[in-house]
This record gives sequence, structure tokens and C-alpha cells, in this order.
Amino acid sequence: MRTNTRRWLIGGAITVVIVTGLYFGISGYMGYQETAQQNAQLTAAPITGVTQVALSNFAVGPANIQVPIGTTVTWTNGDDAPHSVTFNNGMADSGLFKKGQTYQYTFTKAGTFTYHCTVHPGMVGRVVVTP
Ligand code: CO
Repeated sequence: MRTNTRRWLIGGAITVVIVTGLYFGISGYMGYQETAQQNAQLTAAPITGVTQVALSNFAVGPANIQVPIGTTVTWTNGDDAPHSVTFNNGMADSGLFKKGQTYQYTFTKAGTFTYHCTVHPGMVGRVVVTP
């Protein structure tokens, strides 16, 4: 093999390793940030005036909302992986839905309703429904 060809191949391999490392490093850091934000929201007071929830970077945002009874909440999957909105008390389960797809649920009872993703147990959210 000619030296120039070998150098080109080694350079290409190094570039692939660096680009791959950057991709996973950056996406991993973004996921870490989103998850940290999700968990901080779960320990804080619920956010009011929001009916749209994102499932993005393997985290729920905003993860803790408060709505009046009769409100329809919409969840949107922003990830390449499928997610679900599965209520811990069994009252509803979206099943898996894909990137760009949404799930809606109308809350008809007051209370605090916690949900998770069946694929990613770290994805957790809460809806506080007021009478
Ligand atoms: Co998920």
C-alpha cells in the first residue's frame, strides 16, 4: 500500500472516531441537561398555563404541570426513539408513539397523576388536576 493511501486511511479513521465521539458526547450532554431539568421540575411547584409537553432528549418537559379539570394535555415525541405516556395508576396508556407523533388525554378527575415511559423508566412526569 502506498504511504499516501495509508496516511489518508488513518486520517479518515481518526476523523470518524472524533466525529462519532463528538456526536455522542454532545447528545449525551443534552440528554443529561434535559433529565436534570425534568427532575428539578418534579421537586418544584407545578407549572401552570401549559398544555403541551415535550418528550425530548429522553426527558419530559415540562415534567410537572397543573391544569384545571377538563383540560386536554398533548404530548409530542421529539426523539428518534419511541416513547409512551403510561399513567402509574393504570387509568390511561398511550402505547408507543414515534417522533413527531402526539398523544392527547383529557383529565376529567381532580388529583395528582404521575406517568412514565415504558421504554425509558427515567422519563417521568406529573399532571396536577385542580377542581
Ligand atoms: Co421513552
